[in-house]
This record gives sequence, C-alpha cells and structure tokens, in this order.
Amino acid sequence: MYKAPFITFEGGEGSGKSTQVEILYKELLQSGVDVVSYREPGGTKGAEEIRHLLMEGDGDRWTSRTEALLMSAARADLVQKRIIPQLEGGSWVLCDRFADSTTAYQGYGHKLGKEQIEALNFFTIDTLKPSLTFVFQISAELGLQRAALRRTGIDRFHRYDLDFHQRVEKGYDDILKNNPDRCVGINALQDIDLISKQIFEEVRKRFAI
Ligand code: TMP
Repeated sequence: MYKAPFITFEGGEGSGKSTQVEILYKELLQSGVDVVSYREPGGTKGAEEIRHLLMEGDGDRWTSRTEALLMSAARADLVQKRIIPQLEGGSWVLCDRFADSTTAYQGYGHKLGKEQIEALNFFTIDTLKPSLTFVFQISAELGLQRAALRRTGIDRFHRYDLDFHQRVEKGYDDILKNNPDRCVGINALQDIDLISKQIFEEVRKRFAI
C-alpha cells in the first residue's frame, strides 16, 4: 500500500525491544536505507506532551478509558503528521510500540475489551497497518524484574500490579496467534546479538535489502 515498510516492535515491560529498535535502525542506515524511528507514545511535539501526562503521576491518575484515548490521541498525531507522509515519501518507518500496545495494555490489561479497542484503533489509524511486527516474548514476572534493574525513575505503568502485566502478556500471545503473517515472535531471553541477527534476517527476507 505504501512505498516503504512500516515495522513495529511490541512486548511487555523489560522485553528489550527498544534496544533492538536502535540496533535495526543503525543497521538499516548502514545499508543505505532511508529510515526514521519513533517510540510511542511520542514522536511529535504534541504526542511527547501527551506522553508526559501518561507516564507521570499515580496509577489512578487516569481512568482506563481516558488512558486509552490519550494513547490514541498521541498516535493519531504521529500517524498523520509523520508516519503516513514518510511512508508515502518512501522512507522506512520503525516504531517502538504501536496500536497492538493499546490492544494488549488497555484492551487486555485494563479489560476494556478487544472489540472496543479494535474500534478505537480503527478510528485512530484507519487502514494503516504495520508491514511487519516483532513481538518480544517474556513472562510478566521476569520482564518486570528486568525493567526494575534498568530503571531510573518509576512510571505509571510500573505501578500496575502483576495481574495487569500478566493480562498484557496474554494479550500479546493472542496478537501473535491471530496475526501469523504480520507478527513474528522473538524469544526475549536470548542474547542481544542473536536477537538482532534474527531480526535483520527477517527484515532482509521480507523486504529484499
Ligand atoms: P515504554 O517507553 O517503556 O515502552 O513505555 C511506554 C509505556 O506505555 C509502557 O508501559 C506501555 C504503555 N503503553 C500503553 O499502555 N498503551 C499504548 O498504546 C502504548 C503505545 C504504550
């Protein structure tokens, strides 16, 4: 549909996906690919402002629905102002989290329901769909432990309990199962180098670089 691939990275807390977005971004640049990289929520001035609203404060600062709407508001800004124009212009786009995060965190984690979130996602991004999504798989317990070791401050999402994060984990399992063509599972317990090789191989295979 667009001239260039749109690749997203998904997974629970502490799954190591952000490191891999950075590695792939550098590898693509070195291969001469025109590529941009974003993290969600964020990526535009307005979306970064919304990120602060979402990440700071107490767990109960927002209701679940408000949280879903704020995530979507940030995404709508990024999609309209950056992602679509860049894909249309032929630039590859990498994104650390996208609409699957809203399905997993707000749909499963907060139990807002898969259908409700699908409707919200459709309103937010219309027919834009990632060409490829890497889903990093790690148990919620281990992921939270890894995130705690790395973290400097505590964000709102780490204040949610283990049950919440286990529902997110189940959400990602279902996303992976239900989208076998688009999604590739990554065992997040492997070495960083092994994971980056797997990712680069998959990207090369699909997009012939
Ligand atoms: P991260 O930068 O560590 O990935 O933090 C973003 C946090 O926001 C993470 O805890 C997941 C959460 N999130 C959602 O709950 N829903 C969403 O749609 C997105 C994009 C992120």
